Amino acid sequence: MNTPVRHAHVTGWGRYAPAQVLTNRDLERIVDTSDEWIVSRTGIRERRVAAANETTASMAAVASLRAIRTAGIDPDEIDLILLATLTPDYWMPSTAALVKEAIGNTRAAAMDVSAACSGFVYAFATAQAYIASGLAKHVLVIGAELLTRFLDYTDRSTCILFGDGAGAVVLSASEEPGGSLAFEMTTEPQGAYMIWLPAGGAKAPPSAGTIARGEHYIRMEGNQTYRFATRTMATTALSAIRKAGLEPDDIKLFIPHQANNRIIEAVAKGLGLPMDRMYVNLDRYGNTSAASVPIALAEAVNEGRLDVGDRVVLVAFGAGFTSGAVAIEWTADPARGIAGDAAVTADDVSVRLPVDWDSVDPIPEALAELMRRPGPVDVPLDDVVPGEPEPAGIS
Ligand code: UT7
Repeated sequence: MNTPVRHAHVTGWGRYAPAQVLTNRDLERIVDTSDEWIVSRTGIRERRVAAANETTASMAAVASLRAIRTAGIDPDEIDLILLATLTPDYWMPSTAALVKEAIGNTRAAAMDVSAACSGFVYAFATAQAYIASGLAKHVLVIGAELLTRFLDYTDRSTCILFGDGAGAVVLSASEEPGGSLAFEMTTEPQGAYMIWLPAGGAKAPPSAGTIARGEHYIRMEGNQTYRFATRTMATTALSAIRKAGLEPDDIKLFIPHQANNRIIEAVAKGLGLPMDRMYVNLDRYGNTSAASVPIALAEAVNEGRLDVGDRVVLVAFGAGFTSGAVAIEWTADPARGIAGDAAVTADDVSVRLPVDWDSVDPIPEALAELMRRPGPVDVPLDDVVPGEPEPAGIS
């Protein structure tokens, strides 16, 4: 008797974005930049910032419960949790373990996946392999990041790019054809130090010296990274598409990693497709690293951009250098996502804290100060005395 072929279908999807918004104009107040520069070079207009009581695990848990509700299953039916992040709550335990408890699951194996901005696609491909091999029936795949706590707010080349958020999908086994069709993953370590966070690991354990030198912040060679991304994203996507027996024109919608609008335009050009095949939401969230693809996927589905039978490609690149793409045939009722989102609020979720310990002032001081002060206000001209310094508009 032949073993039935097991396909991995996306049955649930959900996202969570923290409420606080940080605009380009806000950033103009702490670094030498401008809304015009940021919009024209990246496409980003604003990003979200997690509140002091939020963490990567708490945001991930909200997105996960929304995805599980959308899938219409019980949290305990999940038998594997894969959480992609480069900003875990702790070095150990895994953030996935904290999420498992927060969503009320008792059965799943849970682990984090470290592949930077490609992490969600890597985790998705791993989930497909678990399902195809019969090792798992329902896998929760999460991308969650709290990047705003790892940025140097004196470095205008990085602090304008990143934001916080989480997205999740449920992949479920089925003998029905469709679902995840093929994937491609690459790693090019010659780019290892193009995006990196130098200190805190075994090579440079945290110390007063590493902190004084700002080695606990994300560093990036923007130009080199840009070049890698424009070279690799289209070829990685094309490889996944061809492995699925398809051509670019067969793909209804691409969900690219949301790093830079110019990179996404290069992907469209490389594939010979118009920009309306590329989903873009980085204007509202900035680059949320491993969270960017699942947030964009959940939004695209809820906005009616995908229907049953459509082919969609997820494609990402990031530190490592890594890149990954998955070609999917969409099989779920798109209408389910909006109800799943509405069923869960941030107040429904709590991540257990350690006994007798909580972090003090988790938000970097420069960012905390910016979020405390209201943005520039329009001051009536009558109130301005000529010769006086321009009103700062801040309290
Ligand atoms: O998820 C993966 C994460 N990484 C990425 O996505 C990064 C990919 N790279 C990029 O998106 C782009 O390289 C950036 C947006 C980071 C930078 O854009 P660029 O067009 O490559 O600018 P650049 O680095 O070549 O800098 C051009 C100029 C420089 O000034 P000078 O030396 O020409 O006088 C920079 O100092 O722009 C300056 N600059 C800024 N000016 C105003 C850099 N950052 C800023 C800023 N505001 N925020």
